[in-house]
Amino acid sequence: MTRPLPELGLEGLAFGAVYHPDQWAEDVWPEDIRLMQEAGVNLVSLAIFSWSQLEMAPGKYDFGWLDRIMDLLHEGGIRVNLGTATATPPIWMVRAHPEMLPTNASGQRLEFGARQTYCPSSPVWRENVARLSRTMAERYGSHPALAMWHVSHEYGDHVGSCWCPVSSAHFRGWLEARYGTIAELNRAWGTTSWGLSHSEFDQIEAPRTAVGPINPAQLLDFQRFSSDALFELFEIETEILRAVTPAVALSTNFISLRRDADYWKFAAEVDMVTDNAYPDPSDPLTHVPAALNYDLMRSLRGGQPWLLLEHSTSAVSWRDVNPPKSPGHTRVTALQAVAHGSDGVLFNQWRQPVFGVEKYHSAILGHRGENSRSFRESVELAAELQKLDAVRGTRVRASVGLVVDWDAWWASSAPEALPSQRMSWLEQTRAWHAGLFALGHNVDVLPAEGPFEDYDLVVVPNLYLATDAQAQALEAYVAVGGRLVVGPFSGVVDETETIHPGGAPGPLRALLGVEVDETWPIDDGRTETVQLADAEYQNAIWSEWIEVTAGEFAADVIAEYSSGELAGKPAVTRRAHGDGFAWYVSAVLEPAGTRALLRDVLTAAGLPTRDNHEPNLETVTRTDGATDFTFVLNHGKEAITVTVPVGATDLLTGATVTDTLTLARFGAAVLATPSETAAPFFTTPTHRK
Ligand code: GAL
Ligand code: ZN
Repeated sequence: MTRPLPELGLEGLAFGAVYHPDQWAEDVWPEDIRLMQEAGVNLVSLAIFSWSQLEMAPGKYDFGWLDRIMDLLHEGGIRVNLGTATATPPIWMVRAHPEMLPTNASGQRLEFGARQTYCPSSPVWRENVARLSRTMAERYGSHPALAMWHVSHEYGDHVGSCWCPVSSAHFRGWLEARYGTIAELNRAWGTTSWGLSHSEFDQIEAPRTAVGPINPAQLLDFQRFSSDALFELFEIETEILRAVTPAVALSTNFISLRRDADYWKFAAEVDMVTDNAYPDPSDPLTHVPAALNYDLMRSLRGGQPWLLLEHSTSAVSWRDVNPPKSPGHTRVTALQAVAHGSDGVLFNQWRQPVFGVEKYHSAILGHRGENSRSFRESVELAAELQKLDAVRGTRVRASVGLVVDWDAWWASSAPEALPSQRMSWLEQTRAWHAGLFALGHNVDVLPAEGPFEDYDLVVVPNLYLATDAQAQALEAYVAVGGRLVVGPFSGVVDETETIHPGGAPGPLRALLGVEVDETWPIDDGRTETVQLADAEYQNAIWSEWIEVTAGEFAADVIAEYSSGELAGKPAVTRRAHGDGFAWYVSAVLEPAGTRALLRDVLTAAGLPTRDNHEPNLETVTRTDGATDFTFVLNHGKEAITVTVPVGATDLLTGATVTDTLTLARFGAAVLATPSETAAPFFTTPTHRK
C-alpha cells in the first residue's frame, strides 16, 4: 500500500526534538514551551517510552499528565509526533509473563533493566501492544496537537532476533508456511551436508549457539523470519491505528542503513519515512556514510520527502568515547539531511536528562539550559531552516541508482562459511557509494528488482544472493541502453543459499560475459595490485580468477591483475549488451581505484564528474521543477572555495552568488537557480588535494 505524503500541519520545515516531559516536574513544562517557541520548535516526539508512566498497574491508567502536556503544546502552537508508547513494556507485565523476555543466541534469558525488553513473537506482548495502541488511538486520535503517530520505536534496536521457545515455535510456523513440507525444507536448506536432515517441523529450533558453524541456509531464513516477526508487530499497531484514526499519518523510525529489518517492506506501510541518524564526530568522513543513509531514507518511498527525527546537537553517550560536535558542525550535518530530502530536523532530545542512561547525551537544552552552546546553535539553525521553506516537498535529483538488498546482505555474512570474512556487504556498499560521492553524485537507492529505467547508471555493490528475476530486470535495463556496474562476489547463490549452477555470477553470467573459476581472497596484511589504464591500484581484500565467456557473450577486459598468482588475468570487464554496457569488477579496489573506474563509467553513461577531489565538499540538488535548490556543504574545518557555473541566489544569506563561493569551516549555501537544465549543478573546488 502506498499512501500519499502526509500534511503534518506545520508551517515551514519541521524543527524540534524528542521530548520527555515525564522526566521533569510539571512546573518545568511552561518554561519548556516558552523556550521551544523561542527556538522555533514546531514538532516534538512524545511518550515513546512512557508505558510505565501511563499504566502503573494492569488497567490502572494515568493519562492526566499526557493530556495536560498535549494541551499545553497545542496552546503553544507545537505539533506532536505521538508515540504509541509501546517501545518498553512496564515491569508488571514482564513479571506476570516472564516468557515475554527475550532470549539471546546462547539461550540466556535477558533480564528487565533496559528499554525494549521484549520477545517480538510473544503473544502476551502482542496482545498488550494492541491494547495500548488502541487506547492511545481512541484517546488522542482527535487531539488537535496530533500530527502523526510514532509507532513503537526503532524496531530491531537492542532486540533484532529472539531465540526463545516462543520464537522457535513462531519460526517453525514461518518455515511451514514457506516450504509446506519438511522434504522441501530439507532440499532448500541442503541438509544432506553435515547430516542435518529433519523429519518433522517440530524438530526445528531457532539457531542457538551450536558447537560449530550453523547451516547458513537456516541462518538466512532465521534472519528473514526475525525481520518478519518485527514487521508483524508493526502491522498489529498499524492496523489498529488505520482503523481508529484513518486520517492520521503514521510512521516508525528507522535506524539508518541497518541490518536487522528489511526496510523496503516496512517503508511500504508508513505514510512518511522517518530516520534516526548520529554521524560520528570522531570520524572526519562521517558525512559520507551519512549521505548514503539519507539517500536510502529518501528512496525507501520512491523519492518522497522524509524526516530526520533524531540527530544529536552534540555528543552521544553510547560510543566508547563521545566527544562533542565542534561549534558549527551540527549546522552542516543537519542541513545535509535536508539536502538529501528530509523536510526538517528533529534532535534527540529537547532537555538533557539529569539521570538515567542518557544523561551525558547532548540535547537542545544542555545541563546549562538556555545558556548552553547547543541551545544557541539550535536557535540559529532553526532560523536558517525557516529560510528554506521553498525546499519543502521538493524532490532530490539523482542520475545514479545504487542497489541495496537485505537478502544479499544477510546471506553474505555466514560465520565460518565463506571464502573470506573480510568481504563485507556493508563495506562494499559504502565503498562504491563513497566513490560516487567523491565524484559529485548522490544516489537513489534501489531494490534489486528495480525499476531501473530512470537512471543513467546503476551500481550493484554486492548481490551475493541473486535471483533470476533480479538478473532479468538488470539485463532488461542494460538492453535498452542502461549502464550497469556489478561488484565482486555477486550472483553466487540463489534464494535458498545454494550456489547457482556453474557457479558465479550465476544468472548474471550472460549479461556480464564472465565466469568465476575460483575466488581468491587476499590474506590479511598482503596487498595485490590491479592495473587500470596507466595506473596501478592496491587490492587488499579480494580477487577472483575470472574467465571471459567464449563466443557471443564475451566481455572486453578493462583492467588486469598485475601481481600475484592472478597477474595478467582479467580483473574488470565490460560487456556490450543491446544498447547498454555491463561492467563486472572482480576486485576490491582502494578508494582511488574505485574513483578512477567510476569516472570512466560515469563518462560512458554521459554523466559529468567533479574534478579536484575534495572529500569535504558536497553538492546536492532538490528541485520543484521550476527552481533548483543546490545545497553546497563544507563538511570540514577549512574553508573551501568553489566555482559556481551560473549566477544564483543563496537562500541562507539572500546574497547573489556569481563565479566563486567561499564556504567557511562547516559552511553551507543553498543556491536557487532556474531549473532549465537537467544536468547536475556542479560546483568545482578551485584547489587540488
Ligand atoms: C537512538 C534512540 C534514542 C536515543 C538515541 C541516543 O537510537 O532512538 O532514544 O537513545 O539513540 O543517541
Ligand atoms: Zn522470543
